[in-house]
Amino acid sequence: MSVQPESITTVGILGAGRVGTAVARQALKAGYEVRIATAKPAQEISLLVDIITPGAAAVDAAEAAASDLVVVAVPLHKYRTLSPQLLAGRTVIDAMNYWAPTDGEVDDFENDPRTSSEIIQDFLPGARLVKTLNHIGYHELEEDDKAPGRPGRRALALAGDHDDAKAAVAGFLNRLGYDAVDAGSLVAGRAFQPGTEVFNGSHTSHQLQNLLAAACARVGV
Ligand SMILES: NC(=O)c1ccc[n+]([C@@H]2O[C@H](COP(=O)([O-])OP(=O)(O)OC[C@H]3O[C@@H](n4cnc5c(N)ncnc54)[C@H](OP(=O)(O)O)[C@@H]3O)[C@@H](O)[C@H]2O)c1
Repeated sequence: MSVQPESITTVGILGAGRVGTAVARQALKAGYEVRIATAKPAQEISLLVDIITPGAAAVDAAEAAASDLVVVAVPLHKYRTLSPQLLAGRTVIDAMNYWAPTDGEVDDFENDPRTSSEIIQDFLPGARLVKTLNHIGYHELEEDDKAPGRPGRRALALAGDHDDAKAAVAGFLNRLGYDAVDAGSLVAGRAFQPGTEVFNGSHTSHQLQNLLAAACARVGV
């Protein structure tokens, strides 16, 4: 099932922490119907969701995963608690990072030369994974947004192996207030992982295109 940008009305978010709730509020502001879930039953987070993301619905993970677009914002070391079955056939944003100081050293990522998103895509083989939203601070997401065409509009990179999913996610980012720059296939996500210049800064579309091209050339992707 391919998803056209304009056909996204529901956004499901897995994770009600710093990133998940910031994405939820920004998506509500952009006019989406937002469903948010954790690993706990919906009733256990409904009060928190009402207070922190007013307008979003607290749901179980299955209902969040049934949305037009799903954002995964859980601590990366918990990725095996995600359900490959629920996410099969879905367009999924991977906003997660491997961040050893927070996550601790995780063998799955320490001992595998692939990017974290390639490992997640393997774990979720039926999902159309797009890596993005990992390189903007949760607090910046609600501060740096600008209408399309405004000077200095911030851009976010995306990477994925499914062009239709990337087009849908680019449309979503645009409505959230950001230009989207396609870095290439999922392996190109290496260019905006933690520790990279792209990860550490805020860039316009033109700046980001140049940085991504240089970074991809450097790492040979
Ligand atoms: N902090 C930033 O500025 C930032 C920016 C971009 C990306 N990131 C990345 O985004 C990810 C999330 O970071 P965060 O700071 O938002 O984490 P966080 O504040 O610790 O929140 C994580 C959330 O995930 C939920 N969760 C855990 N397992 C789940 C599952 N299987 N299904 C649904 N929800 C689940 C947790 O709830 P329960 O445990 O109660 O279920 C919690 O609500 C990390 O990989 C981080 O590197 C962070």
